[in-house]
Amino acid sequence: MCGIMGYIGSKNASEVIINGLARLEYRGYDSAGIALTNKDLYINKKAGKISNLRSELDFSELAPYNTGIGHTRWATHGIPSDLNAHPHSDCKNEIAVVHNGIIENHSAIRQILQKYDHDIKSETDSEVIIHLIEYYYERYSLAEAVMKAVVRLEGTYGLIVISKREPEKLIAARNGSPLLVGIGDNEMIISSDASAIIEHTRKVIYLKDREVFEIKRDNFMAFDLEKGLVDREIEEIDWNIEAIEKQGYDYFMLKEIFEQPETISNGFRGRTVQDYGMIRLDGLRLSEEELNEINRIIFIACGTSWHAGLIGEYLIEEYARIPVEVEYASEFRYRKPILRRGDLVIVISQSGETADTLAALKEAKSKGIKVLSICNVVGSTITRESDGGVYIHAGPEIGVASTKAFTSQVTVLILLSLFLARRRDMNSEEIKVYIEHLLAIPEKVSQILSNNDYIRDIAEIYKDKSNFLYLGRGINFPVALEGALKLKEISYIHAEGYPAAEMKHGPIALIDENMPVVFIAPRDEIYSKVLSNMEEVKARKGKIIAIANQGDNDIKEYADHIIYVPPVRKMLSPLITVIPLQLLAYHVAVMKGCNVDQPRNLAKSVTVE
Ligand code: AGP
Repeated sequence: MCGIMGYIGSKNASEVIINGLARLEYRGYDSAGIALTNKDLYINKKAGKISNLRSELDFSELAPYNTGIGHTRWATHGIPSDLNAHPHSDCKNEIAVVHNGIIENHSAIRQILQKYDHDIKSETDSEVIIHLIEYYYERYSLAEAVMKAVVRLEGTYGLIVISKREPEKLIAARNGSPLLVGIGDNEMIISSDASAIIEHTRKVIYLKDREVFEIKRDNFMAFDLEKGLVDREIEEIDWNIEAIEKQGYDYFMLKEIFEQPETISNGFRGRTVQDYGMIRLDGLRLSEEELNEINRIIFIACGTSWHAGLIGEYLIEEYARIPVEVEYASEFRYRKPILRRGDLVIVISQSGETADTLAALKEAKSKGIKVLSICNVVGSTITRESDGGVYIHAGPEIGVASTKAFTSQVTVLILLSLFLARRRDMNSEEIKVYIEHLLAIPEKVSQILSNNDYIRDIAEIYKDKSNFLYLGRGINFPVALEGALKLKEISYIHAEGYPAAEMKHGPIALIDENMPVVFIAPRDEIYSKVLSNMEEVKARKGKIIAIANQGDNDIKEYADHIIYVPPVRKMLSPLITVIPLQLLAYHVAVMKGCNVDQPRNLAKSVTVE
């Protein structure tokens, strides 16, 4: 969590940094701050969103500063306040740091520094970093002092340091928290992710763990803490600025929901060969022998990505007949998991930076297991740490509530299940049919999106309810979980997802005339069972909103409101049924006056445990 930003060049650093922070605000929005230097050190930081800080700044007055750092915070240690906001400075007000991550041994370092009379003012773990650097800076250059300090830190950090004694440089260091340097024309931009860099340059270098960079406006030096000076290659970002603009939508979330016909296509583009009934997933990097040896697949993920993993379980078990387990990343690593030869671990993560998922990946790798990843963010830590994988190509997802990444993850999982099924029982003719149906999905998603106004009307009716139940069966059970998660995270309404038949084992006690129950009820082989579950809700006066297939008239007898979606093959159903649930959650949240893109207490990528 937290977004950090650094700039050195010839522009007004305060403007570049504040604009960059605005792009990173999805990573946390509890406080924001900047530090600038030429011959002095200017710091301004405020609790609350970046707009709070922005209104305090006189950009023309700050124009002489061409070097600076900035921070947008998701609080871990210490409440959101002006004092706990970053940047933090040393006792002499000579150097400043912004930090993303958690310093686990901060209390021990704090105690030692206090013995040396360091005045540590905030409750944060981060402030000790700058006092530790100050301690070494009496005898060493800024880069050396940072290197000496970071080897004392336990935990994770992406950090940038400036000094008024050496205003012509920025020092950046990384261990476990993402950081990249954009190489501009006589300027350098450092950021937690590419969204704050892309408007300046596409040329970037991703810092590796335990690396420290000394960055000047026209060159840089990279040091590995063990190996010393290292060469680093420059990479090119392959998307453009439009991808991270709202383009007329009120919220990023709505834009991202509406992008799904295109993002789903991007997920399968170039990966299907319809004439031959073939799926190509080159990034898997598995030999024939390794593919044939797979006895079990373990999906590991968090949140929405975990829901996609559950869908993967249904797909791969049914079509490829390989046993699958789905693990919460946060539980997996502490559970002494049993991993054997023939196991394949696949981690799923939109951001590629989720700390729990990354730790689970490392745990599996340490046991000699191959780990693949299904990720969105190119070059993210998880993609670098895994042995191979598949990008979902959904483009930047800015709304904290994941929408297009979910459908893109499911698209890739459908491809993966067909790819594996082809090597087992499924023949190429069957694959051809599935490919044909998959290719038709974007058009069907567009049809559902054209019902947006109708879904908004339903949201209007239910927006003041305090609880919702979401019920689905089979491959649509994870969709029920996802619908409930969307509603609770952006509208703060309590919502639960259940397998529809489980309702009678407990949740049915909650049902009365005030309980809206959203049923995902496509006409598949368990449709009639779902109708029976609806009966049970109706008998207790619950209100039913049904997601049903076009042409289904039977359901009218049961449901108070029906959102029709085009019928599709069961395998593809989650790509269709989740869309109305995303829109329903979105409209309820907007009507309740919630900040849809930045819900309280959440952040886009959870880079702390
Ligand atoms: C989804 O809407 C969430 N905000 C959250 O559950 C998210 O899916 C989870 O934190 C995992 O993130 P990742 O996919 O980037 O690893």
